[in-house]
Amino acid sequence: MRYNASPVGNYLDEKEDKSLNIKVSASILNADLSAIGAETARADAAGADWVHFDVMDGHFVDNISYGAPVQKALSKRYFIDTHLMVTHPHTQIGIFADSGSDMITFHIESESDTDHTVNKIHRAGLMAGIALKPSTPAESVFPYLEKTEMILVMTVEPGYGGQGFLSYTLPKIREIRKRANRVNPDLMIEVDGGITNETAPLVKEAGADVLVSGSYLFKAKDMYKAMQSLK
Ligand code: DX5
Ligand code: ZN
Repeated sequence: MRYNASPVGNYLDEKEDKSLNIKVSASILNADLSAIGAETARADAAGADWVHFDVMDGHFVDNISYGAPVQKALSKRYFIDTHLMVTHPHTQIGIFADSGSDMITFHIESESDTDHTVNKIHRAGLMAGIALKPSTPAESVFPYLEKTEMILVMTVEPGYGGQGFLSYTLPKIREIRKRANRVNPDLMIEVDGGITNETAPLVKEAGADVLVSGSYLFKAKDMYKAMQSLK
């Protein structure tokens, strides 16, 4: 799915059709990575809307995950939701655009000029998201709510899958939703970390509309049922 002509305009058309839908973005970080192609196909068949691709550089976060060559190996059929947990995201936009990203999200805490990086993502014909860590206040992204398609609220500390949900992030989701309803009602709020059948209702009630889920989905006995329980 590409947005070359008018990234925001085309996106809004799409959003109208799906406005009542909660999206699930399957995080493959904790999938069986020896079979990454089969695992993404499994998530797709179970009803995942997007594939969430976590990029870690060993500097912005301790861990190093995988990068553009691995993303490029994924099927072009999927909507690839790239989450850059890297110190210098602005240097990565072209590389990930060429490697199949449909949406690129980078951190407000990274060492990049936020406006410049958002513009670079849009110029590449992709949707842009801004992520914030659990302890970063909502206000830090307020200046960008009209310029981006998505805000990603981290509900665990970035760096690892399989952590417990941090419930103190819920008021922040509400604050961003409330503000966005005034200035950009179509803004999506994605939540990432510790999303399960128990935490999904809390984040949805707070205003999230894209749920990233990794361990809960990939470790479920029946991924389809687990997916339904999130939506
Ligand atoms: C953490 C990543 C998450 C993580 C989510 O830094 O950004 O996307 O993989 O995994 P779960 O759902 O297991 O918390
Ligand atoms: Zn992520």
